[in-house]
Amino acid sequence: MPFARVNGNMLFYREVGDGPLALFVHGFPLDHSLWLDQLKGLAHVRRCVAVDMRGFGKSDPTVDPVLTMEMLADDLAATIDALGADRADIVALSMGGYVALALYELRPSLVRSLTLIDTKSGADTREGRAGRDAMADRLLDKGRSGIADEMVKGLLGRKPSRRAQARLRSMIEGTRYETFVAALEGMKERQDRTSLLKRIEVPTLVVAGNEDAVIPVAEMRAMADSVPGARFNLIADAGHLPPIEQPDYVNQALIELFEGRKVVWWK
Ligand code: MLT
Repeated sequence: MPFARVNGNMLFYREVGDGPLALFVHGFPLDHSLWLDQLKGLAHVRRCVAVDMRGFGKSDPTVDPVLTMEMLADDLAATIDALGADRADIVALSMGGYVALALYELRPSLVRSLTLIDTKSGADTREGRAGRDAMADRLLDKGRSGIADEMVKGLLGRKPSRRAQARLRSMIEGTRYETFVAALEGMKERQDRTSLLKRIEVPTLVVAGNEDAVIPVAEMRAMADSVPGARFNLIADAGHLPPIEQPDYVNQALIELFEGRKVVWWK
């Protein structure tokens, strides 16, 4: 089983393909398996590595009370190093996007391109922070399956396939309770990185599911508009998780980014 020793923790990763490194960064409360269709569809253009972040999936359990975005970003930097690469195409979803923006701020030279899927640059509002506390309480009260019931309804598009529902449930129910709580704390206290967007100098792709009920499409379009030269790709019939809801469209957008080809939906 491939593990990287990173900042004192063993991080699990799945790797396929050859060529320049592409590092896939999952959201909350998910794991590397979010990206299995991307690994399959992109192995001919990239050395694709999907990692389980600290405390998630098959990586070591964590006792950190707060998983900060900066700590997770530092883990990604060390993972790129442990994989023997000097930089990577970063493909990140939602919480993974918060971490990717922190990585770009802290170590821009490690980032060859940036793909931000169903994510945002802003910090939590006061309501959002209260919502994180309420979710942690519901988790401890009802258990992961109660949270999975909510999230399967809230994260996927209007007509989710059974397959997407099943994959999402497996990821949520496979996440450790302490990781859930620590990641909620980390997201609650994350910084607003909106002012970073105009300073991003690498090719950037923003992907949004047109039925995302978590992050408004308009906010993601505005994020793309703020990054010089960024492309925006709206994916039909997908909610917050296009990599499992519409994997072929996500793969196509990534191939076009990696190969530098222009397609009709680019800005
Ligand atoms: C995620 O998908 O990573 C989360 O929905 C992000 C968040 O709760 O802010």
